[in-house]
Amino acid sequence: MKNILICMGSSCFARENRENLKVIEEFLRSHGISDSVHIEGSLCMGNCAAGPNITINGTEYHEVQSDALPEILKKELLEI
Ligand code: FES
Repeated sequence: MKNILICMGSSCFARENRENLKVIEEFLRSHGISDSVHIEGSLCMGNCAAGPNITINGTEYHEVQSDALPEILKKELLEI
């Protein structure tokens, strides 16, 4: 099972992860992989300065912008 840990702490959430969560859900839905990817919200990961933070399959991504996210998701979820 692949997994996505998205920081829902107030700093990350306010900056871009609110939008990023929607992008992730839409990506999973449109690729029909919602059942094979576990999404979990995290409390503040303690690294707000580098946020918005998202960890996918154990790899940390920082300063994740929603327009760059589909490319990351493609690499992590479809190509492995
Ligand atoms: S709110 Fe995400 S690291 Fe602090």
